Amino acid sequence: MCELVVEGGVPLAGELTIQGSKNSVLPILAATLLTADTCTIENCPRLRDVDASISILRNLGCCTHWESDALVVDTAQMDQSEVPDALMREMRSSVIFLGAILARNGEATLSYPGGCELGPRPIDIHLSALRALGAEISECGGKLKCRTDGLIGCEIFFPMSSVGATENTILAACGAEGTTVLYNAAREPEIVDLQNFINAMGGNVRGAGGSIITVEGGRTMHGGLHRVIADRIVGATYLCAAASCGGEVLLKGVDYRALSTVAAALSEAGCRIQSDRDTVSVKSDGALRAIRPVRTAPYPGFPTDAQPVLMAALLRSDGSTVFVENIFENRYRHVDELARMGAQIRVAGRVAVVNGQRSLHGASVKSTDLRGGAALVLAALQAEGQSRIMQIEHIDRGYESIERDLKLLGASIRREGT
Ligand code: EPU
Repeated sequence: MCELVVEGGVPLAGELTIQGSKNSVLPILAATLLTADTCTIENCPRLRDVDASISILRNLGCCTHWESDALVVDTAQMDQSEVPDALMREMRSSVIFLGAILARNGEATLSYPGGCELGPRPIDIHLSALRALGAEISECGGKLKCRTDGLIGCEIFFPMSSVGATENTILAACGAEGTTVLYNAAREPEIVDLQNFINAMGGNVRGAGGSIITVEGGRTMHGGLHRVIADRIVGATYLCAAASCGGEVLLKGVDYRALSTVAAALSEAGCRIQSDRDTVSVKSDGALRAIRPVRTAPYPGFPTDAQPVLMAALLRSDGSTVFVENIFENRYRHVDELARMGAQIRVAGRVAVVNGQRSLHGASVKSTDLRGGAALVLAALQAEGQSRIMQIEHIDRGYESIERDLKLLGASIRREGT
């Protein structure tokens, strides 16, 4: 088992190009099933979740190979419609393959994804949208069986903003006859990226980035070349790291707009943030102030995925900051581990209050989930002495190599074990 070993107290400085977005590339890999041609996905991050998607594609009969930073997917030989239970367990978001497999084959079987480390992860909104498009869905022995004699475009009203349900519905609607209009769709930048990829394959999706999305279905898709956008949560992680350790860091290849809520929070905490079209820099003396309550919300609100890393950045701030987690029930599991390093955080339901401490100390801690694990790394970078972070397979789900990136910025961090 691998661990990260961190010697804290080193300011960060330098430049970093941000990896491709995990949450963009996963639905894009599912979208390759909409064509029987070859697709090339550039800037594809090398992550555990991408490996899980590759396993699903191969299991369906597709071929994949890497060409430098591009993943090439050839779906011509796709001859299966089922995602085995073991692969569903590997990655909860494999449910995103449902809409695409159904659009391609007229049938799809998945095991029910169930809960995850962030709490219950229902898929009722996905399923009711697919039913509205004409899918018959039955659940038997933990398996979801979907089939259709032909999906038909329609109007779909989402009861709440769901990234995955919006993506799944777009993918299924590409295989439907006629026009589908999605109302109250999620507006995340990753959905715009999915739209751009589908349109590069000859599809016709309009409106992503707004809450009404129109999909013209039934078009013949061809192979496509697409470059995945930068990962805004990885960008947010390194901005928060530099803010709390002190120093000056420039991130390249990121869209500032997607980072604006995190940048505004760090500005309020006392950092200097500057941005250009595709760069963002942070300058900090490491002495941060507490900020107004941070409430997570669907985009363009403050991202739930950046909540743990901003919390970590404020552990030594002057004063108290309130966090309100509105997206997932169980997103404070990293708090007990942060406490081992001397953090003072009180949690009550969806609210956490961080009382800034003068200093943190190194400790052995366990990652509980992807972003919570990144928060532990950020706390370790600020702590006096050595920390060991265990169960880092969670972190590897979303960061290509967190130690490589932080080392480039001057941090003392290494991976031990195999
Ligand atoms: N929800 C339902 N029913 C559904 C679908 C969602 O009740 O059918 C609820 C969820 O339980 C949650 C809320 O709606 O309370 C929002 O969930 P959403 O569907 O938007 O999340 P997701 O698609 O499962 C994606 C990201 C998450 C990110 C969330 C919110 C991917 C692969 N995952 O999940 O990323 O936190 O959107 O922005 O895109 C991460 O990268 O660490 C991560 C967890």
